[in-house]
Amino acid sequence: MKNLLELISGEVKAAFASAGYDAGLGTVTVSNRPDLCEYQCNGAMAGAKLYHKAPIMIATEVADKLLGSKVFESVNAVAPGFLNLNISETYLAEYVENMRKDETGRFGLSKDEPKTIIVDYGGPNVAKPLHVGHLRSAVIGESIKRICKYMGHNTIGDIHLGDWGLQMGLIITELKERKGELPYFDDDFKGDYPKEAPFTIAELEEIYPTASAKSKEDAEYKARAMDATHKLQEGNRGYRALWDHIINVSVTDLKRNYKNLNVDFELWKGESDVQDIIPGMVQYMKDGGYAYLSDGALVVDVKEETDTKEMPPCMILKSDGASLYNTTDLATIMDRVKNYNPDKLIYLTDKRQDLYFEQVFRCARKTKLVDDKVELIHIGFGTVNGKDGKPFKTREGGVMRLEYLIDDINKRMLERISENRDMDKDEAGKIANTVGLAAIKYGDLSNQASKDYIFDVEKFTSSEGNTGPYILYTIVRIKSILNKYEAQGGDLSTVKISPCSVLAAKELMKEITGFIPAITSAYEEAAPHKICAYIYALANAFNSFYHDVRILDESDEDRKKSYIGLIDIVKGILETSIDLLGFSAPDRM
Ligand code: ARG
Repeated sequence: MKNLLELISGEVKAAFASAGYDAGLGTVTVSNRPDLCEYQCNGAMAGAKLYHKAPIMIATEVADKLLGSKVFESVNAVAPGFLNLNISETYLAEYVENMRKDETGRFGLSKDEPKTIIVDYGGPNVAKPLHVGHLRSAVIGESIKRICKYMGHNTIGDIHLGDWGLQMGLIITELKERKGELPYFDDDFKGDYPKEAPFTIAELEEIYPTASAKSKEDAEYKARAMDATHKLQEGNRGYRALWDHIINVSVTDLKRNYKNLNVDFELWKGESDVQDIIPGMVQYMKDGGYAYLSDGALVVDVKEETDTKEMPPCMILKSDGASLYNTTDLATIMDRVKNYNPDKLIYLTDKRQDLYFEQVFRCARKTKLVDDKVELIHIGFGTVNGKDGKPFKTREGGVMRLEYLIDDINKRMLERISENRDMDKDEAGKIANTVGLAAIKYGDLSNQASKDYIFDVEKFTSSEGNTGPYILYTIVRIKSILNKYEAQGGDLSTVKISPCSVLAAKELMKEITGFIPAITSAYEEAAPHKICAYIYALANAFNSFYHDVRILDESDEDRKKSYIGLIDIVKGILETSIDLLGFSAPDRM
């Protein structure tokens, strides 16, 4: 189905044309003076300049052409030349009923011509626990991926593990200190290594920071760690076997953590997966004349004439010949192009990597790793802050582990749910986790990604205001009305939305029509916060409606069916939308 605003605009454009003016003047927007009208068109103002005519004259001529239009209840030309429009109840109800009847269950939203899109998100580093900084990448990336899929695109999420480099050498070095007798450190060992890892995830999470701290104080220790990294990268058999253990133990734990966040990845690739293709890529960049030596390092210039800010060259190899984060990302682009032929690559990281991605993207284009048609998008997100406005920390001032943050929210949610009532403990716990996840995700996603936000447990878990729990309460309330309706013998398959002069019903219908544009722009701008803003307005419109009308007690049977149809589509839209945001609603709360 066409977006309602486009349909209305089409009608007004035709009227401009038939009055002898440019049809392009007929664009209609939602009124910014809802006290005066529902929609407005300001085209006569622009037309006045084009046609050297008073705007009110143009507006009046166009309004005359719209007399008798089925789309509008009223059309008024008002000084100095605005067209104030109110939509016809019949037209609006028909439009909403068509959305509801859409057999694909997509409320009239059609799919796009399918593209292949890779979303690179999550990006944890193995052997390090997930902290609050990883929350946004996971939550926003998951939502963007779901939105792309919903629009019909072949979408692949890749976690892009940080599983290569010095951190691996550090862990191996510390293990050697502690358990030097293990066969992994015996160069003469020719047998099979044990299947069982020689450490647990808890040990691993302690080993890494210990080793990292030691290396900062002890140059000799650091040299050993660098040597171990080198040996690993050269394929030392024992070190590779240890590395496999580190990855397995770490990935098992990561999978559990991401599952709790309702986040999952199609690909669990990492930096290590492209190391083999780096030498060929470097050679290609040299042969093509793109890369040159500067102070011993191999670099590619990425400056452009129009740059207003400083744009340092993109470093491909350090002077000691080692590759960098850049190098891996470029090789990963090469790999993705070869294996998936993507139309679009979307990356999610902290916005402090904005410049970094600008360099990488320019380098990839300049060296023709991707052709011009491939869209490269970096979404840099802001910081999660505590109430003091500083990056979120534990009470002791340490980095906040993601697990603890989730526990905190779930605990607070459980308290809120259990307030003033008895509920089975197990059920209450499950509900608290479902609602808690909504609280966290909505709290994050309702902000524009690039902005910092304050992680406020009280606000996020509240059932009032622009929060996840408020949206879920709304869904649960509708479910309960629909259940009652059916229990009273009502049949959802026979309901039909019909024209209605009740203000709250018309307002609700208008909000419902916002679904198609909201999802479309969330996709086009890779902006889940647009969905949040839309469902918040929709939930508000529903709650005013619920407050103003008696749904189940309505005596006019057709009107009651229309009300039921309306709340049924609201429920469907809200459920679809929260699924796109990556959470779900319980049956009761
Ligand atoms: N592991 C990286 C970090 O912790 C994030 C990876 C983001 N993705 C990428 N392709 N660079 O900063």
